[in-house]
Amino acid sequence: ATPTHDDADPALAVPAARADGCPFAPPQAYRDAHHEAGPISRVALWDGAPCWLVTGHAQVRSVLGDSRFSADARHPGFPFLSPGRRELLNRTTPTFIRLDDPEHARQRRMLTGDFIVKRIEALRPEIQRLVDDALDTMTARGPSADLVDAYALPVPSLVICHLLGVPYADHEFFQSRSRALLDLTGSVESVGAAQRELVGYLTDLADHKRREPDDTLLGRLVERPDVSIAEAAATGLLLLVAGHETTANMTALGTLALLRHPAQADRLRAEPALIKGAVEELLRYLTVVHLGVPRVASENVELDGTTVRAGEGVLCMLSTANRDGLVFADGDELDVTRDARRHFAFGFGVHQCLGQPLARVELQIALETLLRRLPGLRLAVPFEDLRYRTGMIVYGVEELPVAW
Ligand code: HEM
Repeated sequence: ATPTHDDADPALAVPAARADGCPFAPPQAYRDAHHEAGPISRVALWDGAPCWLVTGHAQVRSVLGDSRFSADARHPGFPFLSPGRRELLNRTTPTFIRLDDPEHARQRRMLTGDFIVKRIEALRPEIQRLVDDALDTMTARGPSADLVDAYALPVPSLVICHLLGVPYADHEFFQSRSRALLDLTGSVESVGAAQRELVGYLTDLADHKRREPDDTLLGRLVERPDVSIAEAAATGLLLLVAGHETTANMTALGTLALLRHPAQADRLRAEPALIKGAVEELLRYLTVVHLGVPRVASENVELDGTTVRAGEGVLCMLSTANRDGLVFADGDELDVTRDARRHFAFGFGVHQCLGQPLARVELQIALETLLRRLPGLRLAVPFEDLRYRTGMIVYGVEELPVAW
């Protein structure tokens, strides 16, 4: 039977509690759905809207790899994670993350050259310098620090500012507004205000760059005759927000995971060449995009024996897919020597993360350098006192007080 508001499954309640009280496990309700109802189940969203919850690895792959599932939020039946998201996605001109091909491909193609592995690999010395500077500043200031504030957030923010041509001096402004934008517990008003202020800021910046061109991503975008200021600003906003929030949360939560698994951290210290694989494993194990990637069926689709009808919403749970026992043996265990390459932490299909080569290099450098330079790194507060970002689109730890 189709669920109604009355039997709305609390499965999709936000903030989402984590399984077994473990801050690294997928949200409890999603994991229960996977184990009890199987890889495709029927749930209700916060507003009572019925939706398919897809939790298995093979099934997530089928949905995200199939162009009959649309990422366009203007499509009736699109599943919104909160009132704020519904308001936001209904009111703003979409960027390519919320568009289908061919328009998605047209916009994405303009940026792919900036994010290819070769270009990003060439940034390693620059990123290493930023990472070392951040650690110098942090360790000069005292015997302890909040790692989020002193390290995890500044490093990706500095990098994306450098690439886009956004002044880092404005970081308090854009970091606080990005946070408000991604907060699913925020009011419609606060999400709307954050969006307006960020659009205003990036529009002014794009406008300025059109008059005084520079060789940055945003500067080159506004020089194109086929890109309007509005489109450049919207693209800049997507990259600015996606470019620092995700990597920052992965850095801090990844550090915490290593502090809680000291044998894994020792292994990495002893064998730094493991860092690339370790970052893939941490991406899999932590899956910070934790509340589901939304799609809507544009026609009837047969999905692993279930008929998803045109206009029905689907949420792909990357976190449970990334622990699916059919693909990852002992998926609840962190093992930095595991081959984790089939994880979906960056999504899958045409919308698979554009920034993943950058995120990988940033995480490899940030985590390797931290372990190497601070061999005595430890938590400065009891583990039980840490608070987590359970109500945000991107999961993470609020503060990470550490000493070394
Ligand atoms: C898309 C995760 C870092 C830019 C995505 C998607 C995921 C994701 C799951 C797919 C969304 C969907 O299918 O609807 C992550 C994670 C990151 C990360 C876990 C860090 C650890 C970055 C960075 C940038 C970035 C550093 C930019 C510099 C984008 C963009 C898209 C995207 C532009 C949209 C791609 C498209 O629709 O074609 N990301 N991301 N991401 N990400 Fe990332």
